[in-house]
Amino acid sequence: MLICPICKSRIVKVESSYKCENNHSFDISKKGYTNLLINHPNAGDNKEMVLARYNFLEKGYYQELKDEIKKIINKYDIKTIADLGCGTGYYSSNLDIEVYGFDISKEAINKASSNRSNHYYVASSQSVPLSSEALDATLIVFAPLFIDEIYRILKPNGYLILVTPSIYHLYELKTKLYDNPYLNEEKKQSIDCLKEVEAKNLKYQKLINKDDLLNLIKMTPYFYKTDSLSFDKIKKDELITLDFNIQVYKK
Ligand SMILES: C[S@@+](CC[C@H](N)C(=O)[O-])C[C@H]1O[C@@H](n2cnc3c(N)ncnc32)[C@H](O)[C@@H]1O
Ligand SMILES: [Zn+2]
Repeated sequence: MLICPICKSRIVKVESSYKCENNHSFDISKKGYTNLLINHPNAGDNKEMVLARYNFLEKGYYQELKDEIKKIINKYDIKTIADLGCGTGYYSSNLDIEVYGFDISKEAINKASSNRSNHYYVASSQSVPLSSEALDATLIVFAPLFIDEIYRILKPNGYLILVTPSIYHLYELKTKLYDNPYLNEEKKQSIDCLKEVEAKNLKYQKLINKDDLLNLIKMTPYFYKTDSLSFDKIKKDELITLDFNIQVYKK
């Protein structure tokens, strides 16, 4: 199922590395993940963002979203899934199915594999090191979508579960950071090569404590768009709207 990122032939585990028939070799790290990314060193989320995301997600504020994803996986009888742009692996952990997690960030995969039992690889969603028609499903949560690659790795009748931020996501946080906060654009994807079989909105509010709000800022693009003065505006716990679009597509 795994393929060599260089020559695209199958790779198999030989002792502590993966090898292909053309003698390309990829070491398995002590933590159990493998770097299958041949270009883009240091791409994706950096260590600080990864740690912030890990610390925030582990507090359970997005548990409702995780539960929805699990329900969808059970509903469509999905047994094998690729979590593309998996970050710390929060949504695809504890699923009791076969999970392949890929992220372009070595730091993210390092964190994911130190805490979970799934298979993790550093790789880009633009060129996933899986053979064609390998899996029942792909999961993308707040991560880049490369539809041709998804189509290629899905089995016939396979599913894409896509989660994107909806209009009011983190709105109150933006009111703290910006003088003129804006609503998110409704970016529901229309994907020609797959058929939408389900679309739902999940919206709820959580009281998020001050330290977790700072982690939330560090794991989002706001961190890079916001000057340090604005961080002083986060003084206390805040009730924040979490607003997700969840779409399910079938090949
Ligand atoms: C907003 S985070 C979401 C992470 C995770 N899905 C979650 O929701 O916790 C986006 C992730 O996509 C990764 N990423 C960005 N570009 C990527 C690419 N071309 N291929 C794979 N991962 C990518 C980043 O490193 C980061 O971990
Ligand atoms: Zn090879």
